[in-house]
Amino acid sequence: MGLTVAVTGPTGEIGTSAVRALEEDERVERILGMARRPFDPASRGWRKTEYRRGDVLDRSAVRDLVGGADVVVHLAYVIMGSHQESERVNLTGCRNVFELTAAAPRARRLVYTSSVAAYGYHRDNPAPLTEDVPARGSAEHYYSAQKAACERLLAEATEGADLDVYVLRPCVVAGPEATVLVRNLPWEQAASYVPSPVRRALGTVPGLKPVLPDPGTRFQLVHPADVASAIVAAALGDGPPGAYNLAADDTITVSDFARAVGAYAVPVPAELVGMTAELVGLLPVKPARLEWVHAVRYPMLADTSRARDRLGWRPRHSSRDALEAMTAGPEDG
Ligand SMILES: NC(=O)c1ccc[n+]([C@@H]2O[C@H](COP(=O)([O-])OP(=O)(O)OC[C@H]3O[C@@H](n4cnc5c(N)ncnc54)[C@H](OP(=O)(O)O)[C@@H]3O)[C@@H](O)[C@H]2O)c1
Repeated sequence: MGLTVAVTGPTGEIGTSAVRALEEDERVERILGMARRPFDPASRGWRKTEYRRGDVLDRSAVRDLVGGADVVVHLAYVIMGSHQESERVNLTGCRNVFELTAAAPRARRLVYTSSVAAYGYHRDNPAPLTEDVPARGSAEHYYSAQKAACERLLAEATEGADLDVYVLRPCVVAGPEATVLVRNLPWEQAASYVPSPVRRALGTVPGLKPVLPDPGTRFQLVHPADVASAIVAAALGDGPPGAYNLAADDTITVSDFARAVGAYAVPVPAELVGMTAELVGLLPVKPARLEWVHAVRYPMLADTSRARDRLGWRPRHSSRDALEAMTAGPEDG
């Protein structure tokens, strides 16, 4: 008999790829998905998936969902939200899912997608980051702080439980239906640092073609299909439990990004990003969106050898492929 896999957040950027990959794996018999908005699995051609509306803040809805599952994949999260809303959904939602999965008699594996942001943006981070580096988070960036806090919650809630726990830490995800993080990284906010003579020389009109500052920092992307293959490997127990970084093999710069989205890139000193981050830190009221500037402050390159060696994971897409796929959009329009 095949496995029943419960998935929170099956309709998100990673969720749709993860469920598609789980649908294709013959070891999976049934998928139980839950998110808040209406959704019809048939609209995606999914045959094993049963969808229900529910909120991870509602413990009885979570208990019902995980109670019938062999494996729980927790993806429901607020990435771009206010400090208050994201903290409420992310911390309480994670606590509910982690505690109730640990208590569910049938569940044998729990897969949680954390993020490289859980390490935090620190000057002394080693490059590349391995999973042995503590997930310290960065207090000045709500998402990073919450990702680190959720990993601590996970350890507490599952301690002593008869459950294999997998923590996946993808870098920024980019693909045909995965644009949220790439679009919201603060490159355009930092564009005011590009001197106006340069902008004029490029013949750009503000609002028509953005000029993005390129401090030269290299970064990684990962395609959602590659995150999905790691989720399947973890959900099916194809390697030992533990934390796994996920990123494509190559790195790109803001100039590569600018070319792909039809913007100009202008080289700027890396210190300007640090200055922007310092200025954001000094604001008396910090809009959550502005805090994303910390995400590009220091290079955050993830070492993925553990996922390769232990899960047999191989990313099939480069960062450049992921970027191209993102700009091309969904195949069926
Ligand atoms: N996208 C990236 O670049 C990236 C990178 C690294 C890590 N991650 C992590 O991967 C996970 C999945 O990310 P994603 O990109 O797929 O996010 P997403 O596209 O924003 O999707 C979020 C999903 O969670 C559901 N959801 C949100 N709040 C919920 C609630 N209170 N109760 C139930 N369902 C809820 C959403 O559906 P409804 O709104 O209908 O409820 C949706 O299905 C997150 O933990 C994220 O931090 C993402």
